[in-house]
Amino acid sequence: MLTPRAPIAGLDPYRSPIVSRGGLGLDLNESMAGCSPRVLARLRSLSAAEVSMYPQREVGERLIANFLRIAPEQVLLTNGIDEALSLLFTSYLGAGDELLFADPTFVMYPMLGQALGAQVVRVQSGEDLALPVADLLARISPRTRVIAIANPNNPTGLAAPRADLLRIAEAAPDAAVLIDEAYFEFQGEEFCGETLIPDLALYPNLFVARTFSKAYGLAGLRLGVLTGAAEQIGYLRRFGLPFNVNAAALACMEEALADQAFVRDHVAQVKEGRERLAQLFNELGLRFWPSQTNFVFVRVGASAQTFVESMKRRGILVRDLSASPGCDGCVRISVGTPRQMDGVLQAIREAAESQV
Ligand SMILES: Cc1ncc(COP(=O)(O)O)c(C=O)c1O
Repeated sequence: MLTPRAPIAGLDPYRSPIVSRGGLGLDLNESMAGCSPRVLARLRSLSAAEVSMYPQREVGERLIANFLRIAPEQVLLTNGIDEALSLLFTSYLGAGDELLFADPTFVMYPMLGQALGAQVVRVQSGEDLALPVADLLARISPRTRVIAIANPNNPTGLAAPRADLLRIAEAAPDAAVLIDEAYFEFQGEEFCGETLIPDLALYPNLFVARTFSKAYGLAGLRLGVLTGAAEQIGYLRRFGLPFNVNAAALACMEEALADQAFVRDHVAQVKEGRERLAQLFNELGLRFWPSQTNFVFVRVGASAQTFVESMKRRGILVRDLSASPGCDGCVRISVGTPRQMDGVLQAIREAAESQV
């Protein structure tokens, strides 16, 4: 009888993160502002030849390398960060090797580690949900092959200081240390512009991932960026599929990068929206974590599920994360457009008040 490899058979049945899309979707940290009109215009102008021919990823890699001020050899374009994670984990993590990360974080890390038959080593964050740097350092072992850190983190929205991340990279020279900067653009004043990309030159085991899914509003096109030392990216390139990024996404990338005004405006609106959420949570006496992202993580109380259902009845989808380690009673709410936020704030107020 045909059976998959044991780690695959042992995975929980696949559950799409998309439960239902009826309503305002503030459950997946997408951009509610859509994307740049310049990107849409480029999409509409795609020629038959562009669609019928295999895509040239290398052209896009030169563009993004130039934008990030690193060499094209240090860049691999991927089908979203999700594919970058899959490539990276598969390249460094074998059965029995250790994958190390801190909970709570992005759900794909344990899922991929488990699928590869790796030992998934989870370190629990404290009550403040900040990155537990000392505990992570203490758990690095000779078998640690991948350390994954979302910075800023999902679902907490918190960012860790660059110096702490570098200490981890330095302490694990034989492990691939991935800093997942999916929400880089949304960082507030304290962390504004803080990235580990310039540190790639000094840390040959460091990788930094970026995406066009969030601040650029292109989640549907699937475009991610993995950066690292040229030698390591070269290994991943050997194993990656040659046409992993589609022609439409590649064609749009130049316009997306060129329209930084769109990104700036969108980020400014998100920052304003998350500030309004913070004010409301303060007013309602709810514990929340100061966000450096396009969502806010909040403890709504004993019944996160009731809160989520109550929001859904009001036409707004938010994410119940109360089952995640250390996240009792917590939900994650993405920031909507300024116009949507009036209704969102009102719905949160009603849902929270109906809880008590
Ligand atoms: C931390 C983090 N990394 C990666 C991703 C996935 O990004 P992409 O759409 O580029 O695959 C997400 C999406 O929510 C995320 O929160």
